[in-house]
Amino acid sequence: MAETALITGSYGGLGTCFVKLHAGRGGDLILVGRSRERLEAQAMETADKYGVTVHTIAVDLSGPEAAQTIYDTCKENGWLPDVIINNAGFGGQGDFARERTMEQDLSMIAVNIETPTRILKLFLKDMIQRGSGRVLNVSSTAATMPGPLQAVYYATKSYVTSWSNALWRELQGTGVTVTALMPGAMQTGFANAGGLSDTKLFANAVKPDDVAKAGYEGMLKGELNVTAGLPGWQKPMMALAPMFPKKTMLNFVYNQQVAGSAKK
Ligand SMILES: NC(=O)c1ccc[n+]([C@@H]2O[C@H](COP(=O)([O-])OP(=O)(O)OC[C@H]3O[C@@H](n4cnc5c(N)ncnc54)[C@H](OP(=O)(O)O)[C@@H]3O)[C@@H](O)[C@H]2O)c1
Repeated sequence: MAETALITGSYGGLGTCFVKLHAGRGGDLILVGRSRERLEAQAMETADKYGVTVHTIAVDLSGPEAAQTIYDTCKENGWLPDVIINNAGFGGQGDFARERTMEQDLSMIAVNIETPTRILKLFLKDMIQRGSGRVLNVSSTAATMPGPLQAVYYATKSYVTSWSNALWRELQGTGVTVTALMPGAMQTGFANAGGLSDTKLFANAVKPDDVAKAGYEGMLKGELNVTAGLPGWQKPMMALAPMFPKKTMLNFVYNQQVAGSAKK
């Protein structure tokens, strides 16, 4: 029987790449997202093109009951995910105190942190019992530094990497692994959704295909972290970042994320 992957945010830029990669290997899918229409269109297209079985679960991942709904739907239907890719997530440009609303930042924490945490709380026990499973948590290079003008987003991704790495160690010897994927800026729906399209940060954004491939392959190997999608100068910059004076780094990240900074 083909391995089944549960992928959240499946019809987004990076999610679509994961779906194609997994279906391309003959794997079945459980697609999770909040637009039933988009999920069903993606399911039909994927099943037709790759000849795999594709299920869908339409749920808003910002709700506290979302993970339980996903788990219960899988149990009731006998769908067993061998692979879980916690991919859904969003950012958002703006000053924490003066621009971003309570609702915007708390729903970001729910989608980026709370729901993935609940999903693994529910599914990992079953994977451990079966003695096998692969998890990919989509974090970001934002995890490695604070992010003025995206203060909450960077902090959510810091949680994702820290939490994933701790689980990687706790799961040793179980047959289950958790990998964190840390992409740089990519050409997906992310920049538009977060009001970041006109910032310097996205001036050199890369296509998501190679990032997804590196993450997916790293996950299959049970790697700890996969960093991908950093063009040119950003690679050494990221490696040296911990050595820069903190205040210089904060100014740099702030300037990269000022609205309209791409044109300056
Ligand atoms: N693009 C980048 O530069 C970048 C860099 C580093 C890390 N990442 C991470 O990569 C992951 C994938 O993002 P992407 O770049 O592919 O962006 P994207 O194209 O905007 O895709 C994000 C996906 O998450 C879904 N989503 C957001 N809020 C949701 C909610 N409340 N309920 C259900 N689904 C929800 C979106 O669905 P809707 O369209 O229905 O909202 C979409 O399918 C995210 O975790 C992001 O933080 C992105």
